[in-house]
Amino acid sequence: MKIAVLAGDGIGPEIVAQAVRVLDALRTDGLGIELEYGLVGGCAVDATGEPYPEATHRLTSQADAVLLGAVGGPQYDALPREQRPERGLLAIRKKLNLFANLRPAILYPELANASSLKYDVVAGLDIMIVRELTGDIYFGEPRGIEMRNGEYVGFNTMIYSETEIRRIAHVAFRAALKRQGKLCSVDKMNVLECTQLWRDVVTEVAKEYPQVSLSHMLVDNAAMQLVRNPKQFDVIVTGNMFGDILSDEASMLTGSIGMLPSASLDDNNKGLYEPIHGSAPDIAGKDAANPLATILSVAMMLRYTFNQEEAAKRIENAVKKVLAAGYRTKDIDEAGMKSVGTKVMGDTVLAML
Ligand code: NAD
Ligand code: IPM
Ligand code: MN
Repeated sequence: MKIAVLAGDGIGPEIVAQAVRVLDALRTDGLGIELEYGLVGGCAVDATGEPYPEATHRLTSQADAVLLGAVGGPQYDALPREQRPERGLLAIRKKLNLFANLRPAILYPELANASSLKYDVVAGLDIMIVRELTGDIYFGEPRGIEMRNGEYVGFNTMIYSETEIRRIAHVAFRAALKRQGKLCSVDKMNVLECTQLWRDVVTEVAKEYPQVSLSHMLVDNAAMQLVRNPKQFDVIVTGNMFGDILSDEASMLTGSIGMLPSASLDDNNKGLYEPIHGSAPDIAGKDAANPLATILSVAMMLRYTFNQEEAAKRIENAVKKVLAAGYRTKDIDEAGMKSVGTKVMGDTVLAML
């Protein structure tokens, strides 16, 4: 199992260090894990002038899976767009064809009170958001800022091809088959042609999955329903931008954005694994970040790329035990719990493992 490790910026190195300790422990227990380290994001710009250097691309191309922390930070916000850290992340996703982004929002029962919603609304929550990751307004052309009629205009293009919609729809239907058999496709077809096509293609693909019950929802309603009654959802499938926004929203139902892992897969289950959150510059370097989303991303890696279900469960069970034993980083802390930093949270996961 060749894994490229890209820690990135901000809290990236702190949280990835804890996830690497978990991988090291599994290697000690006999899994054939090989780690190689590379640069992406702001740290890569600092070292090479580019957010996704050729050397990093060689590393990720040759690896079976990539573990990533997060990229970005205010010190890079004024760089030209092609040098921005976020472009590095987008380039990995695009160049490796990682079109299927799985973002599970699961509420661990111990965190029911960390959620900003009432206990009954979130208890037992288990949603899978399937976000298309290599298309949409993120990559559409034309894009830019230019002078028109004496003033600047900014523009981007929301675009999806039938092929792109069809392949992510299949991923979502297959995910629903393995779960409760319910799929909700989220779009904005009442206004946007691009998402009319989305709805038409998803409806057509549904004919191949008679066991799955498909529903459609407009994205504004979906944002509302996620906080009104999130347990109505099983699998949600949506485009790149709506999926970005809805998954941050869903993360808060589970107590913290620091709890949500993700897998970004190509056609062959090669994958990039990262927490859904960013580089959290406000807490970087303070040993305050929650490493659990990154550690749970390692579990997803073992499950999806390496087919090591047992090792994946072992990590997830260790996380459950840590929470049951009352250990909490600041983002999920409550009165009466054991308040710990990033490193001690990592120690505790290792102990439970
Ligand atoms: P963010 O997710 O970094 O932070 C939002 C809030 O959540 C902050 O208050 C932060 O402290 C908190 N938070 C995030 N992760 C946490 C964790 N593990 N533990 C505890 N608290 C956590 O989003 P932002 O502030 O909008 O973005 C900061 C930078 O990160 C920007 O440069 C942005 O482009 C980048 N970003 C990168 C990724 C990525 O690399 N995948 C994702 C999102 C944002
Ligand atoms: C995410 C992030 C990225 C995205 C940014 C940093 C490019 O917000 O992974 O959710 O928008 O996809
Ligand atoms: Mn995001």
